[in-house]
Amino acid sequence: SGNITYSSYLILQIFCLLLCFNPSLAFALKKCTILYQENLSNDLSLDCANKKLVTIPDEIPKDAVLVKLNSNQLKRINKGDFLDMSKLKILDVGENNISDVDEGSFKDLVILATLRIASNTLTNLPKNIFQGLSNLISLDLSHNRIQFIHELAFQDLTSLKTLDLDYNKLQQIVHFQPIFQLPHIQRVNLSHNSFLCFNTTQLFRNLSSNLEELILSTHKMKTFSISTPVFPNLKKLVLYRSHSALRWKTPDKTLLRNITHLYISQPVLSLKRFKQVLQNLESLSNLRLNYLDKYIKDLLSTVCKLQKLRKLDLFHTYLNSMTLKLAPCSQLTELNLTQTYINELPNGSIQTMKNLVTLSLSTNTLVEVPYDIRTLSNLQILNIEFNLISHLSCEDFINTTSLRELSLYSNCITKLKRCVFENVKNLKLLNLSKNQLRTIRGTFNVSLHRLEVLDISDNKIMILETGCFQVLQSLRHLNTASNIDTTIKRETFKGLSYIQVLVVSLTRNCELNVNGLEHLENITIYLVTKYASEINQTDNYTVSYRLKSVKRITFISRVDPSGSLPSVPIQLLQPMKQLQHFTAVNVHINAVFANIFQFNPQLKSMTFVETDMSNLNPNLFQDVPKLQALDLSKCKIKDLDFIVQSNLSALRYLKLTENKITVINETVFQYLPFLTYLDLSNNPFSCECSNAGFIRWAKDNKQTQVANTSQYICEFPLPKQGSLLLDFDILSCRDDGTFFCFISSTCLVVLTLLIPFIHHYLRWKLGYTFHLFLAFLYDSKKRKKGDSYRFDAFVSYNINDEDWVYREMLPMLEEKQGWRLCLHHRDFQPGKPIIENITDAIYSSRKTICVISRSYLQSEWCSREIQMASFRLFDEKRDVLILLFLEEIPGYLLSPYFRMRKLVKKRTYLSWPQAAHHPGVFWQMVQRALHTRNALTENTNRLTGPTGH
Ligand SMILES: *[C@@H]1O[C@H](CO)[C@@H](O)[C@H](O)[C@H]1NC(C)=O
Ligand SMILES: *[C@@H]1O[C@H](CO)[C@@H](O)[C@H](O)[C@H]1NC(C)=O
Ligand SMILES: *[C@@H]1O[C@H](CO)[C@@H](O)[C@H](O)[C@H]1NC(C)=O
Ligand SMILES: *[C@@H]1O[C@H](CO)[C@@H](O)[C@H](O)[C@H]1NC(C)=O
Ligand SMILES: *[C@@H]1O[C@H](CO)[C@@H](O)[C@H](O)[C@H]1NC(C)=O
Repeated sequence: SGNITYSSYLILQIFCLLLCFNPSLAFALKKCTILYQENLSNDLSLDCANKKLVTIPDEIPKDAVLVKLNSNQLKRINKGDFLDMSKLKILDVGENNISDVDEGSFKDLVILATLRIASNTLTNLPKNIFQGLSNLISLDLSHNRIQFIHELAFQDLTSLKTLDLDYNKLQQIVHFQPIFQLPHIQRVNLSHNSFLCFNTTQLFRNLSSNLEELILSTHKMKTFSISTPVFPNLKKLVLYRSHSALRWKTPDKTLLRNITHLYISQPVLSLKRFKQVLQNLESLSNLRLNYLDKYIKDLLSTVCKLQKLRKLDLFHTYLNSMTLKLAPCSQLTELNLTQTYINELPNGSIQTMKNLVTLSLSTNTLVEVPYDIRTLSNLQILNIEFNLISHLSCEDFINTTSLRELSLYSNCITKLKRCVFENVKNLKLLNLSKNQLRTIRGTFNVSLHRLEVLDISDNKIMILETGCFQVLQSLRHLNTASNIDTTIKRETFKGLSYIQVLVVSLTRNCELNVNGLEHLENITIYLVTKYASEINQTDNYTVSYRLKSVKRITFISRVDPSGSLPSVPIQLLQPMKQLQHFTAVNVHINAVFANIFQFNPQLKSMTFVETDMSNLNPNLFQDVPKLQALDLSKCKIKDLDFIVQSNLSALRYLKLTENKITVINETVFQYLPFLTYLDLSNNPFSCECSNAGFIRWAKDNKQTQVANTSQYICEFPLPKQGSLLLDFDILSCRDDGTFFCFISSTCLVVLTLLIPFIHHYLRWKLGYTFHLFLAFLYDSKKRKKGDSYRFDAFVSYNINDEDWVYREMLPMLEEKQGWRLCLHHRDFQPGKPIIENITDAIYSSRKTICVISRSYLQSEWCSREIQMASFRLFDEKRDVLILLFLEEIPGYLLSPYFRMRKLVKKRTYLSWPQAAHHPGVFWQMVQRALHTRNALTENTNRLTGPTGH
């Protein structure tokens, strides 16, 4: 049925080609990109930002919901620019040079909720500028040069809640009258304007605004006066930036009675005035005083008398360590002392604050947990991040029994005694990341049985002992990643049956045993050092098979000083039947290996970044029929041929940015029937006729948008370097004869109809059998002729082991022992299909030596070699195969290579690691194996073999 729909699709295409050929139907956007949405929805979001646009492109689909036009060179907005866009909800035209907006430009945007025109050069807001925007909720006009606002400019904005007018040149407060009158207005930012005086007497006396939050700066403002009851709902007042003292006049102190939040930055008032103002704010519950070094000490006594005050934030105010002691703010529930330059909090400073629930001491130079904290039995959240604490005593948290969150991120703690957390029985979050912990043996006490989040990443922990988290029965989120060689024990994660998110780092001697983590959903693995060849434990990953519930796995390699990238331990993926998202960043993946995802049929998205995929094997995607999004950025990919055999039939999103693609054959996209988004930015394209088809397709196809096409730049040929791909004149490539055109397109159509057919019925297997058949013919022909062998042995090895082959093997076997060897990198005929070359090599050599390593096992070509050779072995009863193990490979690793395991059980093999101390003996054995006649003998086990035998 797939073929039938495909054919009908093609017939439709032919139909279109013949009947409705109309270039104006072209869907392709030249300037904008439709943002990809993971969940299928009809909402069209357009990104036209950063495209050097001078005018708003008319290609924007009328049904777009979001349009980003920011960071261009737009000069004005014209009346017709957003015609009929009745579905638009969010529009951003910030960071342009817009100085004019036609009246009624937005009038069709009936459901627009967010409009951003920030950072432009508007000087005035004329009468009907916002006509029709009756559903607008948020309007950002900041960073313009607005001096004048027409009194009717805002009249249609009946839903507006938030308005940003900061950084403009408004001089008259009367301009704000219409704003304050808007029925739903809640928050207005007027800071950094040019008015000298904010005096409510200049507003209508009978005005009663709904405004709740007013943001002003005192940059130029000299007078602030609320003398009429125009803001009955004003709750939040923000005043900042001042170099001159402000005259604050509120003759009727009841007018500010409803203010609950006051944020003041820098000393905008004289101390005396400040005290008076504070005393009048009867409802004040939330006070933020930043950069108030000068008189914070004197001010605090007044602050602490505010009966309703609950939250005090002194961020970035220089505090003398004694200051707080004089301030008995016992009513506070939240105190924020972030970056207040304290190196100690003397005993008694905050002792009286018995009601404190949240305390932040972050970014200071404390060397120990302040004594007073043990008196705060109601404290729930304690933040001591970025300090210099090196030691925690058993008494530090003795009385903070309500503590729920404790962050000690980025301190210098070296040791944690068992008693430290003995009393914090309600702790849910503990962050110990970025400290100097060397061990956590016995640190986690049964009292932490409610802990849900634990972060001990970036410490110096050498070993995570068996069951060290065992008592943390509620743990859901655990991060143990670090840059050093942490050993994870067999039962390290024992008992963590509720864990959902795990972040670990894996080093060469590390054994990841994640047995029993039945609810694990997200796992992130940092690969610290080269894994593939350096690992020497036999049972790594053996018990990982229970990781059934994982939906998202991420591998990230941290920079390895030796420069060698770690391999992804793909065995881990095997049990993950539910896996939906796979990500690998900067790792080594044996690109020719095919079956990595054979057990993960649910995969929806796959990301390989900075990973060498230059030899990408199309079969990599064979087993993931549901794959929707594929990101292969920075992967050294040279062409898109892999798509043809990849079976990516559900793919909607394909990102191939920053690769090495020069020429694209557009016909490959026929194999991606659902592709809607393709990004090929930053590839070294070639401006040649070989790309003409792709250019035409990118412009005209009606399904797939090629993101940022207008910015694709050619690298080749040299005269065209730096020119735009879309500027390439494809007409010069086109043949004029319409008849020829018709014939060739007909042929193409017939061919494309045939391809799925061929693909369906003659898969690789058939082709392979065909080759075996050829090989058989070839061989019998040779035998009849009595040809002698051209080589003594064909050596099959993985490119990763080339070094060993050339350094150890060649000198010994070719030079010392005098064998003629066939190496595929040296002796293969270029230009010949690889499978033919292999067949040739195997049948013109007496023996086949397989140099087996982990990389070898993962290599598809090599396993075909083995199969080919073992075909000779089993089907012709010839003893042609010599297996040479370069590293110890546990038996279970061989199990996926069923045939290989069988061979290992029956045939001769040699182990280089076991013979490492007696290389002489090893090479003697190889010599003997090469000497043996073709007759199949059953004298196995002559030589020591791999483990598990
Ligand atoms: C500002 O308000 C005060 C009352 O607080 C009033 O006396 C004064 O005239 C006003 N100033 C201006 C410029 O309107
Ligand atoms: C304070 O708020 C109440 C209720 O919202 C309102 O009735 C009253 O007028 C406000 N007071 C002032 C001084 O604005
Ligand atoms: C403390 O204040 C800073 C600056 O205002 C803020 O970033 C931080 O989130 C606050 N911390 C807490 C615990 O409220
Ligand atoms: C701990 O709390 C108890 C009872 O609330 C109190 O008696 C004791 O003095 C507190 N300990 C410290 C070190 O403050
Ligand atoms: C797993 O990670 C994804 C993406 O970061 C996140 O949305 C999801 O909530 C995580 N799952 C859990 C259980 O935290």
